[in-house]
Amino acid sequence: MASDRLPIGDALSAHLDRFARIPEEIAALHRRMEGDQWEVMMTHPDLGALLEVLVRASGGRSVLEVGTFVGTSAAWMARGLEPTGHIDTLEADGERARRAEEFFAETGLADRIRVHRGPAEATLPGLPADAYDLCYIDADKPGYIGYLEHAVRVVRTGGLIVADNVLAGGRVALPEGERDANAAALVAFTEAATGDPRLRTAVLTVGDGVTLSVVL
Ligand SMILES: C[S@@+](CC[C@H](N)C(=O)[O-])C[C@H]1O[C@@H](n2cnc3c(N)ncnc32)[C@H](O)[C@@H]1O
Repeated sequence: MASDRLPIGDALSAHLDRFARIPEEIAALHRRMEGDQWEVMMTHPDLGALLEVLVRASGGRSVLEVGTFVGTSAAWMARGLEPTGHIDTLEADGERARRAEEFFAETGLADRIRVHRGPAEATLPGLPADAYDLCYIDADKPGYIGYLEHAVRVVRTGGLIVADNVLAGGRVALPEGERDANAAALVAFTEAATGDPRLRTAVLTVGDGVTLSVVL
């Protein structure tokens, strides 16, 4: 069995950058966030491009996001929507929700993306079952397992669940006792997603690591 994985060094990374097609409004958002202490939270363009494709491939009618921040990934996903498609995105932090709404208004996305303010744990139980083509999880890491349970309920059969940061910058590979709380939560989440009989899950090394699950 061929089990080697390709290391991505600087030269290969530069090669990949040649194929990155970052839309101007998202590139402008990255420029605006340069130097911000939370800039690293913005969804990596490689994953953004994948999300756009996945939204399109899964029907592009309705998308749920857990963790809006300034709206990077929601803007990528909006590019894959059908003309009548929409996104519900959940954000606990009021100032971040305001900034995302401002960005969506500036970029003509305000009527397609609704920001739900407050902790996702409070909003998720009120969302209808089987209503979404795709759910993207990108919020607090200890919450991931709970969000997965809601996602399995609200995503239709055949729909997709994507979760970001499952490699935690490589910290998931530390010995169990040396992992920080987020890395430990992401290992537990990856075990849950790959072991859940209601899902079929692949672990991808895109960006900071992603699980991609289809709901059976
Ligand atoms: C990694 S950032 C999301 C990045 C975003 N997807 C993007 O590409 O710009 C995580 C976000 O989740 C939010 N968050 C953390 N805990 C949350 C919770 N319990 N409910 C909703 N949002 C939460 C944080 O305030 C933060 O804005």
